[in-house]
Amino acid sequence: MKKDLISMEDLSIQEITDYLTAAVKVEAMPLNERVQFLPGRIMATLFFEPSTRTRLSFESAMHQLGGSVIGFAEQSATSVSKGESFTDTIHTVENYSDILVIRHPGEGTARLAAKESHLPVLNAGDGSNQHPSQTLLDLYTIQKDLGKIEGIKMAFIGDLKYSRTVHSLIRALMKLNVTDFTLVAPESLRLQKYFMSNDEPGKYQFKETDDIEEAIKNCDVLYMTRIQRERFPDLVEYEKVKDSYVLTASMLKEAKEHARVLHPLPRVREIAYDVDKTKHAGYFPQMKNGVIIRQAILLKHLGVQL
Ligand code: NCD
Repeated sequence: MKKDLISMEDLSIQEITDYLTAAVKVEAMPLNERVQFLPGRIMATLFFEPSTRTRLSFESAMHQLGGSVIGFAEQSATSVSKGESFTDTIHTVENYSDILVIRHPGEGTARLAAKESHLPVLNAGDGSNQHPSQTLLDLYTIQKDLGKIEGIKMAFIGDLKYSRTVHSLIRALMKLNVTDFTLVAPESLRLQKYFMSNDEPGKYQFKETDDIEEAIKNCDVLYMTRIQRERFPDLVEYEKVKDSYVLTASMLKEAKEHARVLHPLPRVREIAYDVDKTKHAGYFPQMKNGVIIRQAILLKHLGVQL
C-alpha cells in the first residue's frame, strides 16, 4: 500500500521515532553511498505557494539520493492558470513521477491529492493546517541540540493562529510527552483552543502570556514564527500586529545556558540580526537539517529500508 505524509496527527510515536532514527543513519552515511538509493526515481514538486527552503531542500535531498526532480514553483506557470482543476493537475503529474510533494494554500488539499493519486503524497504545507516535514526536521533539530525531546519546556512566540509549523509541531510534541508550553501571541493571533485539547486531563500545561522575558527565561526551546501576512483576510489587521514581537540578543541574557532559538524561516523582522551571533541561535543548523530529514522521508515513502 502506498504511504502518504499528510499530517502529524496521522503518525504514531513509533512512526515519528522511525523517521528520526532514519535521519541519524542518513546523516552518518557518506554522499557516495546515499546516491545509490534512488536512481531512475522521479520526485515531482507541485508548489502553488512560494517556498525557498522546503522545495529546494526536497529537491536537493532527491538529487543526493541519485533521483531526479520535475515540478513547478508557481501556479502561473501551469495549466491551472488556464482553468485546469487541482485534481486534473494531480492526475497529470502522477504519470510523470514516482512521488508527489505538494504545497497549496488550501487546507486539506494534500489529503485530497493523496486520495486521488496512486502515488505517495508528501504534504509540504496546506494553508494554515499542517507542515509535517518541517515538524520532523524541527524534532530532529531539538533531539540533536538538546539530546532529548520528552519533558522539554517549549515557548512559542508570534503568529500562533495561522502558522502551520506551530500547529504541526505542538501536536507532535504532545505525543512525545512534552507537557509544558508557554504561548506568546497578539490577542488576535492566539492558538486555537482545539490544538490544546486532549483526553488526558491535567497532563499538559498551556500558559498564555504577554511576558516574553519570562517565556525566554523558562524555556529550553524558543520557537519563533513569522506573522503570516498572506493568511489575513484584512491587511489592516496585519498592519496592527506585524511588529508585535521582535527578539533581540539582549533579551536572551536571562535565557538558560543551553536554550535554543528555532524558527522555520523565513524571518521578516521578528528575530534581529544580532541574535544570529549568540550561542542560542539554532535556526541556521535547523534549516540545514531539512535536507537530511527529507532524505529519510523520501527513502521511507519510496520503500527503501535503511
Ligand atoms: C514555513 C511555512 O511555509 O509554513 N516556512 C517553511 O516551510 N520553512 C514558515 C513560514 O512561511 O512562515
